[in-house]
Parts: sequence; C-alpha cells; structure tokens
Amino acid sequence: MLRRNRRLRTNEAIRSMVRETSISPNDFIVPLFIVEGKNVKDEINSMPGYYRYSLDLIEKEVKELWSLGLRSVLLFVKVSEELKDNAGKEAINPEGLMQRAVKTIKNAVPEMIVMTDVALDPYSKFGHDGIIDDGKILNDDTAAVLAEISLSHAKAGADFVAPSDMMDGRIFEIRSLLEDEGFHDTGIMSYSAKYASAFYGPFRDALDSAPVDAQNIPKDKKTYQMDPANREEAVKETLMDIEEGADIVMVKPGLCYLDIVRDIRNVVNVPVAVYQVSGEYAMIKAAAEKGWLDHDAVVLEQLTAIKRAGASLIASYFAKEAVKIIS
Ligand code: PBG
Repeated sequence: MLRRNRRLRTNEAIRSMVRETSISPNDFIVPLFIVEGKNVKDEINSMPGYYRYSLDLIEKEVKELWSLGLRSVLLFVKVSEELKDNAGKEAINPEGLMQRAVKTIKNAVPEMIVMTDVALDPYSKFGHDGIIDDGKILNDDTAAVLAEISLSHAKAGADFVAPSDMMDGRIFEIRSLLEDEGFHDTGIMSYSAKYASAFYGPFRDALDSAPVDAQNIPKDKKTYQMDPANREEAVKETLMDIEEGADIVMVKPGLCYLDIVRDIRNVVNVPVAVYQVSGEYAMIKAAAEKGWLDHDAVVLEQLTAIKRAGASLIASYFAKEAVKIIS
C-alpha cells in the first residue's frame, strides 16, 4: 500500500490539523421570540429549553449572547389576537412590539447585529404570509406591505430585514423603498429558497401563527413556499433575489436541504445562510430527553454538516448551546 488514509486520523491533533470545517460563534444568527409583558420568560411547549421573552428580560439575554461571542439576532414577535387583521396594520406600527424590540436591543448592545423577520403571518388573523382575498394570497399587494414593514423596521434601527414569505418580487419592492427613503445601509437577508415544510410546526406554536382552519382559507402555504421535491427551482429563486437586491440569501429548513445549500453555494457570490428550523430543534431535544441520542454530539454534527454543505451563516436555536459546547 502506498496510501494509508488512516494516517491522517491517528490522533486528535492530526485530525484537527486536517479538519476542513469548523464552527465558531460568528457563524450564528440567534432567533429570539418576543412577547408583551414584564418579567416573562415563557418556555415553548414543543421547543424545550427555548423561551419567549418580554422586552425587559431580552436586554439581559442579548448581553449574555454578546458575551458568548454571538453577534447577530433575528427577531420574531408574538402578536395578540385582537391586533391581527388581513392587512398587516399592526406590523407597521412605529410603536409595535417589533419596533420597540429593535430599539431595546440596539440600546442594550449597540453593536449587536439586529435582523428582523418581515412577514405578515404573526399579524394575520388567517395565519398566512399574505393578504387574502377570496381564498387567494395576493402577491403584489402583499409585497407592497412587506416593503412598508421593512421601512418601519429600518426606521427603528434594524441592520438587516429578513423577508420570510416567498412572494414574487418582494426583494425589489423592499430594496426600492429603502433606497428611496435613504436607508442605503439597511441590508436584506432574503429567505430565498424556503420550502413548504412540515418542520415549522413548533415555531407556529411559539407564535400562535399557524394557518387557521376555515372555509375559503388555504390550509397550507404551498402556493407560495416551495415544493420540497424541487431543486432547480431553488437556484432560480435565489438568483432572482440576488438580482433584486438581496445581500444575504437563505435556504430553509437545514438538514433535509443540504443538497440545495451546495447547489446554491456553487453558483452565487453572496453569503448563504441556512435556517435550522424549529422542528429540527424539537427532534433532537425529544430524542435526547428519551436518552436515545447524545445531545451535544448530534448538535455539533448537524451544525458541522450544515457548514460543510456550504453555509456561511446558520440561524439556529442551538446557537447558545453550541458555543458553550465548543468552548
Ligand atoms: C413565517 C416564518 C416561519 C418560520 C420563520 N418565519 C414559519 C412559516 O413559514 O410558517 C419558521 C421557522 C422555524 O420553524 O424555526 N414567516
């Protein structure tokens, strides 16, 4: 034998010398769920160890994240039922929960990169990412509102807006309005290849944002989110979002879609983010609770696989734990 591959696996020092992929705190985007109230730290049923925070407690949380080396957060808000409508009116309220959350976090840790979820579903009485008329999700009317929401987040101080809806043309609408209004430095992280996945269940529990079951309301998001069977289409979606002005693109969910991540990584020259979603988190937690999997090892293996596939950034509910495990 002239070649013995095991030589490079002899011990941990050699293995780490030749290791191709590593994880560090600045790879992560930390999703945060925010609620109204005081002194609220409310565990999410289907996401053990993950919480909804009120604004007073979020300050402490982001300071801790910063001290762990985490540099970016992605905000989601839980909106009370009476503020929901079919137009996103509350989403553009300058005194809304999201807008106050951005200010609170920027105030607590000015250097923290604050990204905001731009979407109608938490604000929609139908639980959809678009305005509905006669059983249909209206594309262009929705895109126009998403641009208004983005502007409102930019005014509050968001560094990046992150539209998570999959309407056509919304990146162009958002970029155009931000430019017109002078927000040249506000970035866009686009959920560009977002699939109609069954892995979002726990997230919809967290925000109480699942599509409602009613007549003439679509039961799922398949007319806007992508078909999990499609691969070529993900590249098309992503290239269009870049043309329209996206600074960072995203593939979502993570683990089941790593072929898509690699396809996209090979053809784009912007950072590619991957969202390891709520269902992926819940599966690991559940199996670990049963004692069926080694929690920390599985977390690191999955995050490493996501990076190896080509992710430049990972939005993950494991961010804080992962940083503690690797340090
Ligand atoms: C909705 C949105 C969803 C997620 C992020 N933004 C759910 C959905 O599309 O129904 C899911 C994130 C997760 O599951 O962790 N705009």
